[in-house]
Amino acid sequence: MRIPTGIEGFDELVQGGFLADRVYVLSGPPGSGKTTFGVQFLAAGASKGQVGLYVTLLECPQNIINDMSNYEMNVTSLIKMQKLLFADLGPRMEYGYMDELSEFVTPEYNVGKTSAESEAPSPAMVFKEIAAYVSEYDVKRLVIDSISAIRFTSSDFSLQEKEMSRFIRNLKNLGCTTVILSEMTDPTAYSTEQFAAHGVIFMHNFLYDKSMTRAIQVIKMRGTRHDCNMRSVDFTNAGLKIGGYIE
Ligand SMILES: Nc1ncnc2c1ncn2[C@@H]1O[C@H](COP(=O)(O)OP(=O)(O)O)[C@@H](O)[C@H]1O
Ligand SMILES: [Mg+2]
Repeated sequence: MRIPTGIEGFDELVQGGFLADRVYVLSGPPGSGKTTFGVQFLAAGASKGQVGLYVTLLECPQNIINDMSNYEMNVTSLIKMQKLLFADLGPRMEYGYMDELSEFVTPEYNVGKTSAESEAPSPAMVFKEIAAYVSEYDVKRLVIDSISAIRFTSSDFSLQEKEMSRFIRNLKNLGCTTVILSEMTDPTAYSTEQFAAHGVIFMHNFLYDKSMTRAIQVIKMRGTRHDCNMRSVDFTNAGLKIGGYIE
């Protein structure tokens, strides 16, 4: 079943929308429109009665709600109707406290000490909290902002990869259509979450012909015919709008 995204011009690129219950990664630099895409996707479902959950790991939900209230997405009323939910799964008070503490702790003292790290949201902790929300509120659309803020419990790269693959696999079994936002660090090197996801979309914000240009590009989408070229992106009163090819 295809899930219309609510982003004008996007569904036509991907045979009508996302596939239900799948996990997509939306990567892009700051300011490229990831949060807007995410909230617009949730608001489109919420206005048809499907509960949407926006999970923040770095930013305070109120800031996002304020910014998105500039658009005609009915964010405030959808929140009041409990069709649009925001959950702050960012570092807890204790974690902030540990952060402050660590300024006074010498590196030697920190060796072998894992408590500061274990307070950070690990994939397992984040998943557990998300799963509880999903079953309590019957969430159908989920956005995680952003994967870049999740901390691994190990510094071993291969263990981190395993942890991330497991996180994505768990999300695939949640029964909701998920968009994971990620800050793009290197568009030429794929990350574990991009390998593991059913689909990967890039958002660009670059200098083109002396002006900044925004674009979106579908990199991979399993089970879907799509092209991989860049399409222009505009911010309208309704949110993002996808336009034609960028020559
Ligand atoms: N009406 C508007 N309200 C808020 N941001 C807008 C508006 N119109 C355009 N923007 C653009 O949206 C950008 C932020 O988009 P956002 O989705 O938060 O990006 P990201 O999550 O990728 O950092 C701002 O930098 C701004 O250029
Ligand atoms: Mg954002």
